Amino acid sequence: MLSDRSRPVIEATLPVVADHIHEIARRFYMHLFDQHPELHDGVFNRGNQAEGSQQVALAGSVAVFASALLKTPEQLPETLLSRIAHKHASLGITQAQYDVVHDNLFWAIVDVLGDAVTPEVAAAWDEVYWLMAYALIHTERGLYSARGVRPETVWRDWRVVEKLPETDDVVTFKLQRIDDRLVRTSLPGQYVTVQVPMPDGVRQPRQYSLTRADDGEHRQFAVKRVRGGDGPDGEVSNHLCDKVDVGDVITTSLPFGDVVLDDSRPAVFASAGIGITPMAGMLSHLAAAGSHLPVTLLHADADERSFALRGQVLEDIRRIPGAAMHVWYENGAESSLPVDSVHQGVMALDDVVFQDGAAYYLCGPLPFMQAVRSALIDRGVAPRDIQYEVFGPDLWQADFVTEDAPGAEAATASA
Ligand SMILES: Cc1cc2nc3c(=O)[nH]c(=O)nc-3n(C[C@H](O)[C@H](O)[C@H](O)COP(=O)(O)OP(=O)(O)OC[C@H]3O[C@@H](n4cnc5c(N)ncnc54)[C@H](O)[C@@H]3O)c2cc1C
Ligand code: HEM
Repeated sequence: MLSDRSRPVIEATLPVVADHIHEIARRFYMHLFDQHPELHDGVFNRGNQAEGSQQVALAGSVAVFASALLKTPEQLPETLLSRIAHKHASLGITQAQYDVVHDNLFWAIVDVLGDAVTPEVAAAWDEVYWLMAYALIHTERGLYSARGVRPETVWRDWRVVEKLPETDDVVTFKLQRIDDRLVRTSLPGQYVTVQVPMPDGVRQPRQYSLTRADDGEHRQFAVKRVRGGDGPDGEVSNHLCDKVDVGDVITTSLPFGDVVLDDSRPAVFASAGIGITPMAGMLSHLAAAGSHLPVTLLHADADERSFALRGQVLEDIRRIPGAAMHVWYENGAESSLPVDSVHQGVMALDDVVFQDGAAYYLCGPLPFMQAVRSALIDRGVAPRDIQYEVFGPDLWQADFVTEDAPGAEAATASA
């Protein structure tokens, strides 16, 4: 809770900080990497830095947190904090690193806002930073201790035992443990961070959703090649698809992620493209557990040929009594699979029948998830019943962005 002394200072300065927050975040990362070049190696994702998406996510999260302290001090933005904490834990972030981030962030605030940062203003923002930092540190400590690890020991080496082409652009990797230590369980929907040494010697972390239920021995995920378009091709996805083969050893974190299946209520999965991966993981868990949960999978893709993991998810759907699968293909309503319905074009929910009390899980490109979430809310679904997984820094922060929130522009920019 913000102190009475800091509250009016934050109220008065939040608009100016929000106006400059992108520049603060940009200067912060520049200074951070200048002072701590080791953070390039295995910690930060340089693709996100080059695209600027991590800067926007950081800026948005601070603005959302500060405005929540003012508007709803009794209720901190838990979903936002939980998402960040899981991402941090999957990268082995330590408590000591919060001092490093603090010092560089405050350097950037002074650098951008200059004399406006009086000692009083600095003290009030210092309080906001540590309130947010401790909320994250406590959650991260809980995540590490629940798994019996320390930040340094979230990592483990695995051997690639199968590499399966799923589509022209997607490859599944099946990993097997190479030591005797217990394989920690994953929750359905979670991801691992894969840490890949790149040809220039720098290790690069990327997250991949687990696509199969645990068997105590293996982990499995599917990687889609990122083709550059206007920018360069994705470095890790292409490296994994082209250079990593059966027999190679790769390093992954323990599973983390807060978009996980609630198996006490009906589930509706809505995915597009490679967004099928966390859905495949959740369906695999349900099928392996012999679940009778009412389940509906809605999936959109270019066509059936580019629908990754289609055989696996359909098989799992058929193992769950009463489960249904509907597909939408941009290139025509043609399917050779025994799906429950096939449609041409983008996903439309008007004719889909949902179970009462369902939980909704979305994954796919941001415009897809924004459209589906709006359609669900129009049909009367409560926002709290909708969870979504973003394959990158969360630039949407949908649960917090309202038109008058000071962080609204920061959180939605480039979404
Ligand atoms: C929770 C989570 C789960 C995920 N699950 C999956 C999954 O199951 N399967 C999957 O395939 N992916 C998944 N992802 C995405 C994955 O982590 C990677 O982001 C993805 O593989 C791309 O990584 P890359 O290294 O190939 O691309 P990067 O090299 O990081 O490039 C990403 C983008 O940045 C652009 N870019 C890079 N450098 C520059 C530059 N200098 N200038 C301009 N633009 C630039 C590239 O053109 C590209 O568009 C997930 C992500 C998250 C956060
Ligand atoms: C109060 C302090 C902090 C805040 C507000 C914060 C905020 C964030 C946010 C919003 C994200 C993106 C989450 C997502 O949507 O996926 C993120 C990711 C990340 N954070 Fe933090 N963070 C803080 C502290 C730290 C510290 C101390 C470190 C350690 C160096 C760190 C390293 C990272 C890394 C490496 C990522 C992933 C970046 C990427 O994938 O591009 N953060 N953080």
